[in-house]
Amino acid sequence: KRLVLIGPPGSGKGTQSPLIKDEYCLCHLATGDMLRAAVSAKTPLGIKAKEAMDKGELVSDDLVVGIIDEAMKKPSCQKGFILDGFPRTVGQAQKLDEMLERQGVKIDKVLDFAINDSILEERITGRWIHPASVAKNLVTGEPLIQRKDDTAAVLKSRLEAFHKQTEPVIDYYSKKGAVAKLNAEKPPKDVTVEIRKVLS
Ligand code: AP5
Ligand code: ZN
Repeated sequence: KRLVLIGPPGSGKGTQSPLIKDEYCLCHLATGDMLRAAVSAKTPLGIKAKEAMDKGELVSDDLVVGIIDEAMKKPSCQKGFILDGFPRTVGQAQKLDEMLERQGVKIDKVLDFAINDSILEERITGRWIHPASVAKNLVTGEPLIQRKDDTAAVLKSRLEAFHKQTEPVIDYYSKKGAVAKLNAEKPPKDVTVEIRKVLS
């Protein structure tokens, strides 16, 4: 299966991805995770992306399209993938369509994590992560940290970017009839059940 997860910050994309990934043997490609790894490794990509990320703005389409293009070539992605946080602009969605067309495949489902903005601040400011477990999902002895962009002030810009730039992507896919709307306000377990229904 080839899936796209769209939803505002804190809607549960990163929470649900590992669960679906294992059930359907997919690879999980999260542009936010990849960008954060690049920022902490201070790679040229990370250096370019950091300023926008710290402000809660989107990084340029060219940068993210480049990482996705590269990451999708991994053998583990050949059977299918979960795109978590990409595409986030209509331009990115068009670029993705071109990439997939070249491979003769298409997106099977777009999962729309629908949730009211008012719930998100509590989730975002309450999130603590393991620095090393973000990518690998391992339990380590390291102290928990908060993401630099997980503050009420930066959340405001992230939400603004979502409504202005990412919501139109849902319309883009709706026209193709690929969108399944989920109630992302429910507890994580219920959301997983809803996703299973959509994918079965
Ligand atoms: P990114 O990392 O993608 O962040 P985001 O979209 O803001 O999403 P989050 O990771 O905050 O939310 P999530 O939906 O994964 O929530 P989670 O499951 O963790 O992007 C970061 C930045 O990178 C962007 O601002 C941008 O600068 C850049 N970027 C990334 N991709 C880009 C792109 N394509 N183009 C341009 N720029 C890009 O859950 C959050 C919390 O809520 C957790 O604590 C969790 O335990 C809890 N929770 C989850 N589900 C539930 C539930 N059902 N009930 C109660 N609590 C829940
Ligand atoms: Zn996430």
